[in-house]
Amino acid sequence: MNEHVQSTGSEPLFNPLAPEYIRNPYPYYERLRTMDPVHLNVHGAFVASRHAEVSLVMRDKRFGKDFSERTIRRYGPKIMEEPAFRSMSHWMLQQDPPDHTRLRGLVVKAFTARRVEDMRPRIQQVVDETLDRIIPQGKMDLIEDFAFRLPVTIICDMLGIPEEHREAFYNGSRDGGRLLDPVPLSPEEIKQANAGNVMAAMYFHQLFELRRKQPGDDLTTQLVQAEENGHKLTNEELTANIILLFGAGHETTVNLIGNGLLALHRNPDQLALLKANPGLITNAIEEFLRYDSSVQATGRVALEDIEDLGGKRIPKGETVLCLLGSANHDPAVYPDHPEKLDIRRPNVKPLSFGGGIHFCLGAQLARIEAEIAISTLLRRIPDLRLDDAENPEWRPTFVLRGLKCLPASW
Ligand code: HEM
Repeated sequence: MNEHVQSTGSEPLFNPLAPEYIRNPYPYYERLRTMDPVHLNVHGAFVASRHAEVSLVMRDKRFGKDFSERTIRRYGPKIMEEPAFRSMSHWMLQQDPPDHTRLRGLVVKAFTARRVEDMRPRIQQVVDETLDRIIPQGKMDLIEDFAFRLPVTIICDMLGIPEEHREAFYNGSRDGGRLLDPVPLSPEEIKQANAGNVMAAMYFHQLFELRRKQPGDDLTTQLVQAEENGHKLTNEELTANIILLFGAGHETTVNLIGNGLLALHRNPDQLALLKANPGLITNAIEEFLRYDSSVQATGRVALEDIEDLGGKRIPKGETVLCLLGSANHDPAVYPDHPEKLDIRRPNVKPLSFGGGIHFCLGAQLARIEAEIAISTLLRRIPDLRLDDAENPEWRPTFVLRGLKCLPASW
């Protein structure tokens, strides 16, 4: 058992917002996998930590999202009147078929491997322009100055957000992530989430007006037209899913780039190996996704009684929390030192993008953005050093795992 975990017997097996958990959840995952792999936690969710159950639950039709029911169980019936929760209930991410199929079908074409491949030159251009500006400074925050700009710019391009509106997004806060955590929000946090949601909805309503008058070759135009012409989605669904795409399209990728760079610098042999063999980058990105995923968990609800999931009975309506980060370190699937970073690891197939019908729409985009960002950084600033690779400051959220900042110099 890892040195960081002292088994006192009284501490909860799953305490995801504890500072030591945020700093390094992996020893705690190991304890869950070995002691209670489908663990009923204090909030009444079953926490699945082994690869076998996590992967099964995400793909099995006996499980779904049932968002409103699940949320009402946790917070009471009034919760669906809160704007942030109402909006979230319309996200394709929280929908079951047939609504999920309808909403996903409206945007899926923009994310095909072919369309994303075509974006390579633009992605390279954004990375190069960012580095041109920063290199003379001799230092930067890899998160704010580097990792953050790329995915925000690309999702703004995709959504047709005009250049002159973007400054607010570049300077915007990144604190919406608590909504996704498996620990209920306090009334104060709900208030903050509502305020963020109302601001976002106000901006996007303006954007919808603009794209109604001046259609473009972008996702917003596409969805606005789907709403007007075919009545294929309601106005609330339109707003909610644009908010989802904007959020999902950047926070996670910022953290893939940040967590990947941190992992490389904590493992200088792997950093040297990648610098010497840039062709390893594609496998390295899969390994970064596996080693320290920027999304640590997702959830499903049992749509019927499940007699046996890893030895536990899951009654209809109960939630199973799928620990993606833990599944990615399960020695049953990664027998060769899963706790080590190995950019040449064979057969890396992380569950970081989920599975089944909700498999991440932006997976290929995120991979290519991270690939171009990291390989260009290593090539253009080969002597970059992190100020403090040992004690970086993590953001206080569990599901979205990422750094507050990562100062570096050269
Ligand atoms: C490293 C980056 C990313 C990670 C780790 C990630 C992870 C995930 C995961 C785990 C899910 C599925 C959740 C579930 O099964 O319940 C998901 C869904 C989704 N992701 Fe990503 N994501 C990333 C980047 C992106 C990007 C760049 C976009 C869009 C531009 C995006 C858009 C979405 C959308 C729309 C869904 C919902 C799909 C559905 O419900 O059918 N993601 N993502």
